[in-house]
Amino acid sequence: MSSPKTYVLQPEDATADDTQRAERNVGGSQSAEATAGDPQTARENTGSRSSAESPAGTRKSERFAGMFLTESPQSQEVYREMMDLVSDVLLREFSSASKPYSGAEPNQIAAALGRQPVCPEKPDTDMKTLLERVGAEVLRHSAVVTHPACIAHLHCPPLMMSIAAEAWIGATNQSMDSWDQSMSGTLLEERVIEWLLRLYKYGSSADGVFTSGGTQSNFMGMLLARNEYARIKWGWNIQKRGLPVAACRMRVLCSEAAHFTVKQSAALLGLGEQAVVTVETDHNHRIRPEALERRVRELVDGGLLPFAIVATAGTTDFGSIDPLPELAAIAKQYGIWLHADAAYGGTLAMSERYNGLLRGLEQADSITVDFHKGFYQSISCGAFLLKDKSRFGTIRLNADYLNPQDDEEDGVPNLVVKSIATTRRFDALKLYLSLQHYGRQSFGEMVDHTMETALATARLIREEQQLELIAEPALSTVVFRYAPAWCPEGTEPGEWSDELNNAIRSRLLREGWAVLARTMVNGRRCLKLTLLNPRTEVKHTAIILRKVVETGEALARELAVSLDSRGRV
Ligand SMILES: Cc1ncc(COP(=O)(O)O)c(C=O)c1O
Repeated sequence: MSSPKTYVLQPEDATADDTQRAERNVGGSQSAEATAGDPQTARENTGSRSSAESPAGTRKSERFAGMFLTESPQSQEVYREMMDLVSDVLLREFSSASKPYSGAEPNQIAAALGRQPVCPEKPDTDMKTLLERVGAEVLRHSAVVTHPACIAHLHCPPLMMSIAAEAWIGATNQSMDSWDQSMSGTLLEERVIEWLLRLYKYGSSADGVFTSGGTQSNFMGMLLARNEYARIKWGWNIQKRGLPVAACRMRVLCSEAAHFTVKQSAALLGLGEQAVVTVETDHNHRIRPEALERRVRELVDGGLLPFAIVATAGTTDFGSIDPLPELAAIAKQYGIWLHADAAYGGTLAMSERYNGLLRGLEQADSITVDFHKGFYQSISCGAFLLKDKSRFGTIRLNADYLNPQDDEEDGVPNLVVKSIATTRRFDALKLYLSLQHYGRQSFGEMVDHTMETALATARLIREEQQLELIAEPALSTVVFRYAPAWCPEGTEPGEWSDELNNAIRSRLLREGWAVLARTMVNGRRCLKLTLLNPRTEVKHTAIILRKVVETGEALARELAVSLDSRGRV
């Protein structure tokens, strides 16, 4: 048997001449493959000879081959050269990124991008010039997620090993839908899923799948809950028959602090946002179990059909964790599916100090967990875990071309049966490499550090008269607002403070001081720090808080002058 390295695919009708020429070109300094970064030279190599003149399209295919990473030394040389350039430009941009954002206005970025056609007919730029130009236009005006003051969203700096894995994921381009497109990938994803099932204390009948993130995982939880409910209650197969008439009475319960994807999923599932019943929270922004149970009873008494409860383990704004054991008990009592959105809080499982906060998570029927948040993975990377794997059956499909029934009989693992995506990235690789390289303890320490930074930052806010802490941090977010010391006459104090908080955020972003988030709490504009970046320390948040106060004071003076000149004061 010939080894893969010596296996050469010859076009059937290539002439001996064509073959010799191809070999010469591949070996020569002007080989088509060496022109991957230089389309102009590639075109010249191809010459003006039409495909009709080229019996087997040999020269064209040589040129195309030069555009891909292959076994040939020439292709690999181009790859190395390209990756060196990619690294050089990236590292240069990182070295000069002293601020979390360049401060460029949208119209400035748009003007720079508008100078080049998106798809030139015949590009005449060499690889180096292209990468340097796009680096300056795009990388330079990106959010610097590694900067300690880039603390707006659940948007993490990616671990070095995740960045490295992305290079492999992109180059090998495995597709996780069928075994014949991702042989080792399929088995590695299954292995990482098994580890996750143990981490979240699911038993042997559980299973899971990687997803594009929390949105997709939450959707899957509600999709399976809806299908299962219809199957059990009416013997109705929604996958085959669509929604039954009674579906308009189906209801999902979640807290008022749950992520918007609960409503989005209900809408996509054909139930409408009206199907989502939000339940009040306590002063810690956790759902009130007694209020939840009361709402379930009211729904049932009113002839409505509560089929799912979505608990949140780590709300986006407050990091609050719903009382999972109590919710699980209510779900069990009323025969309702419990889905736990642990997109943010799931990372607590890695911390010895804080993993107890997830107590009860193992009782959920399904779990969302995101790795492009507290697991520091490049976007995108998430998972959906299901306590009883047989329930994947309500979304199972077999396509003759992809995962025929007989594959299953032969035990071929085609992961598409568990996913709502067909072509799917091999994201498990980056999580695996990161876990292997850094180990559980490092992840746990990062969780602990970010939680402690949030607590210390909250203490600083409490000590500052012009800042108001809105809630005690439950995870790594801190919600607060600038509380101005004075308010111009004739201006409503709440509106005045809203306007200032908005303006503070915009100015700090524009001046490159900090990328902060905003949110609304009880109808009032607040600021939010999401301290997911383990590089961020209290010394950084102290500077940012000082800047918030100084900017608030300066803006108050400026706004008052402008109100004055408009004759309002
Ligand atoms: C609690 C929660 N659930 C779900 C999501 C959606 O996750 P993704 O953005 O990965 O789709 C988010 C996003 O921030 C979130 O905070």
